Amino acid sequence: MTVDHFANKSKSWDMSSKRVQNAKSIANLIIDNIKLSSSMKVMDFGAGTGLLSYFIAPHVDTIVAVDNSPSMLEKFKEKSVDFASKTEVLELDLSQKDIEQKFDGVISSMTVHHLKDTKALFEKFYKMLNKDGFIAIADLDSEDGTFHSDNTGVFHFGFERKELEIIAKEIGFKEIRFELANTIKKPHHEFSVFLMLANK
Ligand SMILES: C[S@@+](CC[C@H](N)C(=O)[O-])C[C@H]1O[C@@H](n2cnc3c(N)ncnc32)[C@H](O)[C@@H]1O
Repeated sequence: MTVDHFANKSKSWDMSSKRVQNAKSIANLIIDNIKLSSSMKVMDFGAGTGLLSYFIAPHVDTIVAVDNSPSMLEKFKEKSVDFASKTEVLELDLSQKDIEQKFDGVISSMTVHHLKDTKALFEKFYKMLNKDGFIAIADLDSEDGTFHSDNTGVFHFGFERKELEIIAKEIGFKEIRFELANTIKKPHHEFSVFLMLANK
């Protein structure tokens, strides 16, 4: 049986103003950098409760929320009846399963560090994209392992942007660029969040 690492966090996930602010900053940067359109179908990878999807929804036709946590997706389903786009939910572990759909873009916030094989993940993104499709992936810059109070299910303590760029280039992504999306202040340290943008 698969473990829902977010079962204890899902109910209170959206109560953190830092999380909401982080998702809003990432969404604003995506909106400023990508020409979103009302015909687009976009996957939110690791959508969780839908914090990022909510802010992107007014700019696209459909958001497909992909996540392997039933409890986080339960929250997504409750909230998404009020989203400005159509929504679909796929409960699956993308490191284990494939999705046969094609997307105009993949958005993701704070999720890629939960998957061991980043290159395999980016290859899946590439395959699932329509021609000229985009990725907009937000995650932590390299950190010292103290961002999470419990590192269960965390495979990367953030990322070196250069390493992600090399991986994306090898797969065939073009116009790879990075922006600073947000800084998360915790009592002991500040953590920066990048937005990685690239096109098929
Ligand atoms: C830190 S949360 C981020 C949630 C949301 N994007 C946000 O910014 O609030 C990471 C999410 O990724 C999901 N996740 C982790 N590993 C996954 C995998 N292998 N396949 C699908 N979803 C995964 C978790 O269940 C969780 O909802």
